[in-house]
Amino acid sequence: MLWRSIPHYESVTIRAPCPFGQLKMILDSILSHFRESFGGEPDFVVRSPGRVNLLGEHVDYNDGWVLPVAIDRAVYLAVRQCDSPLVSLNAPDMNDGATFRLTETAQKKNVNGHPLPDWARYPAGVAHVLREAGLAVTGMDAVFASDVPVGAGLSSSAAVELAFAVAWRELGGWQKSGMELAQLCQRAENQYVGVNCGIMDQFACANGQADRALILDCRTLDWQSVPLPPGVAIVIADTTKRRELGKSEYNNRRAACEEAVRALAAVLPNVRALRDVSEADFERHADLLDPVTAKRARHVVEECERTVKAAESLRRGDVAAFGVAMNESHRTLRDLYEVSCAELDAMVSAAQSLDGCYGARLTGAGFGGCAVALADSAVADSFKRDLAKRYEAAAGLKPEIYVCKASEGAEVAGRG
Ligand code: GLA
Repeated sequence: MLWRSIPHYESVTIRAPCPFGQLKMILDSILSHFRESFGGEPDFVVRSPGRVNLLGEHVDYNDGWVLPVAIDRAVYLAVRQCDSPLVSLNAPDMNDGATFRLTETAQKKNVNGHPLPDWARYPAGVAHVLREAGLAVTGMDAVFASDVPVGAGLSSSAAVELAFAVAWRELGGWQKSGMELAQLCQRAENQYVGVNCGIMDQFACANGQADRALILDCRTLDWQSVPLPPGVAIVIADTTKRRELGKSEYNNRRAACEEAVRALAAVLPNVRALRDVSEADFERHADLLDPVTAKRARHVVEECERTVKAAESLRRGDVAAFGVAMNESHRTLRDLYEVSCAELDAMVSAAQSLDGCYGARLTGAGFGGCAVALADSAVADSFKRDLAKRYEAAAGLKPEIYVCKASEGAEVAGRG
């Protein structure tokens, strides 16, 4: 049976409360949808994880450093090659399907000439950039489903992109590293889907490692992994408030950073991105910027220095120092970069007030979605329970909270 070759399938523990389902249910569902939609069995299943960023927020597009982990929630994609140049997709989560022709991806239309639904633009965009890069992309029948919550700051879209990129690499028999796939998927998101994201999400989904955090220099793309310290739980706390204004505000923040670079480069000629500005130089020249641009840039400058130092703390296993950096990061994201919201602030304050919390902050783009906390794993259960209570009392919303395990990046997880 296909699913037996997927690691951990039989030892799945049900993470309650978990409205997004759990592994067995997802695999059963995609396999039965596959049989119903296409008949027979898929050739293989790809698992492609979401990510949570521990530190280094809104710095990837400023050439800074980020510290994400791939998580144990993922997109699962069942695939079978077909001889025609058609990609037939079934997405039970969306209760929808779409078929597009590989030779016509530029039109963003399905085979009947209707616009592709938003969810299908991720696979179509990946096919488009892979073909542009001269890589063999074959037709396929595919079903995918996910337990990465959408719009929660856990990179559900990067997970979909990487799932398809890995599937086409497997079917095409070509070689590309995880980083190369990540860059291609980022291009698909920037140019095809139209979201001007940085490299962090695709990088983490592609290169995740079990029990390890990743440290990426977003300019050089050099990266390393560090073991997560024992006895520390990564707690993901979903406010269940979904992103609003996310896309336009994200683009505004990027524009403010570019504006700051233009002004600062006039007096600091070596500055190509905010990552090149030290805190001392920033203090000297901040008055060249209008007050709002100065606030945005100050967050980025501080976050870059903070992330480099905190990566050292993590290497030394100094979780206490790392946690302080997370708290500081939330403060500047909230007060300077202004990408938090009442629900995220309530969740972060609640987490920070609990015993056993090393640090907490919003994670991802912000404006809703998830906070991440590092907590003493000895108290993880009571931490989760008390955090949920305090958040609900403060925000009037039921959160979804779970301890995540750092996991491997996107991979072929099982074969028929
Ligand atoms: C989103 C983007 C990333 C990154 C984060 C903020 O997740 O996709 O590239 O910019 O926001 O750190």
